[in-house]
Amino acid sequence: MMGFRGIKLLLILNVLILCFLSSRSQFVPVDRYSIDCGSATNTTIGNRVFVSDSLASSYLTTPQNVLVDTSSNSIPSSEYSQLYQTARIFSQASTYSFKINQPGRHWIRLFFYPFSASNYDLKTATFSVSVNDHSLLSDFSSGEGSVKEYSVNLTSDNVEITFTPSSGSFAFVNGLEVVSVPDLLIRDDAAYVTPPTSYHGLSNQAMETVARVNMGGPTVTSRNDSLSRTWVPDSRFLKNPNFAANASNLNAVRYPDGGATPDDAPRSVYGTAARMASDGDPKSNFNVTWGFPVDLGFQYLIRLHFCDIVSDAPNVLYFNVYIQDSNVLPDFDLTTKLQGHLATAYYTDFVTQAMKSDEIRISIGPSNVNNALPNAILNGVEIMKLNDSDGSLSGKDVPTSSKKSKSNVGVIAGVVVGVVVALLLVLVLFFVHKRKKQERLNQSKIWIPLSTNGLSQTMGSKCSNGTTISAGSNFNYRCPFAAIQEATNNFDESWVIGIGGFGKVYKGVLSDGTKVAVKRGNPKSQQGLAEFQTEIEMLSQFRHRHLVSLIGYCDEKSEMILIYEYMENGTLKSHLYGSSFPSMSWKQRLEICIGAARGLHYLHTGYSKAVIHRDVKSANILLDENLMAKVADFGLSKTGPEIDQTHVSTAVKGSFGYLDPEYFRRQQLTEKSDVYSFGVVLFEVLCARPVIDPSLPREKVNLAEWAMKWQKSGQLEQIIDVTLKGKIRPDSLRKFGETAEKCLSDFGVDRPSMGDVLWNLEYVLQLQEAVLPNDPDENSTNVIGELSPQIHDFHTGGDENSNTGMGQFEMSSNDDISGVSMSKVFSQLVKSEGR
Ligand SMILES: *[C@@H]1O[C@H](CO)[C@@H](O)[C@H](O)[C@H]1NC(C)=O
Ligand SMILES: *[C@@H]1O[C@H](CO)[C@@H](O)[C@H](O)[C@H]1NC(C)=O
Ligand SMILES: *[C@@H]1O[C@H](CO)[C@@H](O)[C@H](O)[C@H]1NC(C)=O
Ligand SMILES: *[C@@H]1O[C@H](CO)[C@@H](O)[C@H](O)[C@H]1NC(C)=O
Ligand SMILES: *[C@@H]1O[C@H](CO)[C@@H](O)[C@H](O)[C@H]1NC(C)=O
Ligand SMILES: *[C@@H]1O[C@H](CO)[C@@H](O)[C@H](O)[C@H]1NC(C)=O
Repeated sequence: MMGFRGIKLLLILNVLILCFLSSRSQFVPVDRYSIDCGSATNTTIGNRVFVSDSLASSYLTTPQNVLVDTSSNSIPSSEYSQLYQTARIFSQASTYSFKINQPGRHWIRLFFYPFSASNYDLKTATFSVSVNDHSLLSDFSSGEGSVKEYSVNLTSDNVEITFTPSSGSFAFVNGLEVVSVPDLLIRDDAAYVTPPTSYHGLSNQAMETVARVNMGGPTVTSRNDSLSRTWVPDSRFLKNPNFAANASNLNAVRYPDGGATPDDAPRSVYGTAARMASDGDPKSNFNVTWGFPVDLGFQYLIRLHFCDIVSDAPNVLYFNVYIQDSNVLPDFDLTTKLQGHLATAYYTDFVTQAMKSDEIRISIGPSNVNNALPNAILNGVEIMKLNDSDGSLSGKDVPTSSKKSKSNVGVIAGVVVGVVVALLLVLVLFFVHKRKKQERLNQSKIWIPLSTNGLSQTMGSKCSNGTTISAGSNFNYRCPFAAIQEATNNFDESWVIGIGGFGKVYKGVLSDGTKVAVKRGNPKSQQGLAEFQTEIEMLSQFRHRHLVSLIGYCDEKSEMILIYEYMENGTLKSHLYGSSFPSMSWKQRLEICIGAARGLHYLHTGYSKAVIHRDVKSANILLDENLMAKVADFGLSKTGPEIDQTHVSTAVKGSFGYLDPEYFRRQQLTEKSDVYSFGVVLFEVLCARPVIDPSLPREKVNLAEWAMKWQKSGQLEQIIDVTLKGKIRPDSLRKFGETAEKCLSDFGVDRPSMGDVLWNLEYVLQLQEAVLPNDPDENSTNVIGELSPQIHDFHTGGDENSNTGMGQFEMSSNDDISGVSMSKVFSQLVKSEGR
């Protein structure tokens, strides 16, 4: 694509950049195209050479060649005024195309300045712009002129920027840029504002910069920014300018090791701040608020930059930061974040959705922490619009006329889709065949249809790495039996790492050295084919850090074998009691609960239909070598609740001690049944004892019942794991107990969502870790009210009657349900309910 000239240009640019750089290692973009459109000569702005697109014409494909320039000197002076002197005009769809040497995030900048030329008044132009498959602008008219900046993760080796005139109009552009962005600038994760959870998946979002603001300081131009960004002053966004004052100390700014870098924001941004105009008055109590106009309906990434250039000692500045009305950084203390250092650069990311208003409000205000003088600071803000579900930033699709040259891609995509469909068909036929056979055997089995995006190419192909299977196909997560025999030393009994209702679980090593867990279904097992299929179905659709991943399966010779990633540290349960593992700290336990909650939250919300796990228990939460939690065992999972209504008579399934009493009563399955079971797990984690222990006196047998009794009397600390005694901060324990209690509410509607549980656990961890002076026991209650309004929705379940049922049984075996017939348990329960 890029000609010899392009390569030479690149080399020269690289050499130039290298020469001008000081010894300090600075980011050098691999791809850097700066184009001055419609110009006959190159234009230099700062250290950037904008190459004339008449000289470097190989980049542009356009049916006609119209260059215009200002006949007057009317362009007001600005950092890009030289670029604004000329423009290129398109009356039909036209495309700039650049070779991408290194995939990843790239800036795409478009420069528009609508001057009036002899035959064209650029102010009247309306047009659309797209980049590969992302629509950036739709029926856009440039108004007073602007720089539009996007950042797009380009994964193909070519980028096409297409200008398409609206009907009856024309398009124009004065300049454009495509430049590599450092990989670490935008990370995959951020905190989600409401509900307060975490957000993953930023790395494949296309973004549009809607605001980049230097608080308390002047404009920082592209020349003073290592990534050629422009930062504007904040005054025009301030709601009440009288509340804000400027602070500045550029020389004090330091960049921490392993934290924010000058590429995140330059010294001139971190070295100035807006602060409360509260000088000397210890009673000042107001917020400084900025409002940023945005488009309704889109999600936005908000990056807040901080650097405490106002304090003269650590731990004296505590403040709150609000996005919309959520307190996203309660009692925020920068020096604690930064190992006690002052004047150190720090930033943090949030994602929020503009649902109700076309303005995003950001406020800073004093916290209630006692010994701090009321003050609050903010050094910089960046707001980026995220693409919608169609990959669009304009709310519209890419116009059809600009999709023309995609035929090659189309053909390839067609072939790939064809192959996938064919494979799916084979699999569907296979399962339908199996199912028919099975149905004859067992009429009552549940069948969950294989959805079209089920067994997709996201599955690994570990099994094909060996010599045992023909290479070439990407869909080989179906493993030959022989390969599994080899991996498990022919199902060596001494390699068994677990036994469940489904059969035995073996440790195994694939021919490429990957450690795996191999679950071999017992052909006579109660939990039969349907569950085998469910598990493949679920795990092939859900890929998540906190869900155990499926590597392959085998169905040869009526085998039912599932191959998972190997989880070095076994089950959460084994770390809590009944084994020789060392006791885990409170922090470790919380992190595991948070991980598992993330996995379940993803199951409930990450897909168009909620998926209900149905068998949440500590034995189904596995731990990897870093004790990171992953939820396992999807054999009973269902999408719900709508599917369930057609299956009302489905036998109640799950594990005794964890079962939602409402599910027993009404046989209606919702996500809240998982929340109930998770609540039991929380108490199990806290108390480190089996959920059902028949050897104990009657009132203690059922953990859920026993723990709720102590929780309700406010004395939960009486029954916690002895190894945790004195190690849990009271706030943390109180919040944890409340969270578990809400999960165990009798009625599903009173239970929090998994997202709320997740947020609450994160807060429990913060309470454990926080180093708050004058331990603000009551503050934390206030804070949480502000942070998480939905917490007010939790009702204290006053109704006593129902979660009692379960404890009235005495089980003869251990708490693990594997061997127990659920229908027996169920009929007992029905009896007990009738009493
Ligand atoms: C414009 O810039 C390019 C790249 O720096 C260079 O190869 C070319 O010779 C320049 N053209 C003129 C006329 O200066
Ligand atoms: C770009 O996307 C690819 C594929 O989704 C991903 O692997 C990569 O990490 C992304 N790059 C960045 C810088 O986010
Ligand atoms: C703060 O600085 C900005 C930019 O330098 C200036 O426009 C503004 O008037 C200053 N505000 C105050 C309160 O001094
Ligand atoms: C921008 O950089 C120039 C030198 O390149 C410097 O003189 C000027 O003070 C800087 N401006 C700001 C706002 O930092
Ligand atoms: C600051 O703003 C937040 C969010 O809107 C609000 O809850 C809080 O009461 C405000 N604080 C003051 C002192 O006005
Ligand atoms: C943005 O587009 C990408 C594909 O380019 C898609 O995977 C992602 O889900 C989109 N984002 C949203 C919030 O829908």
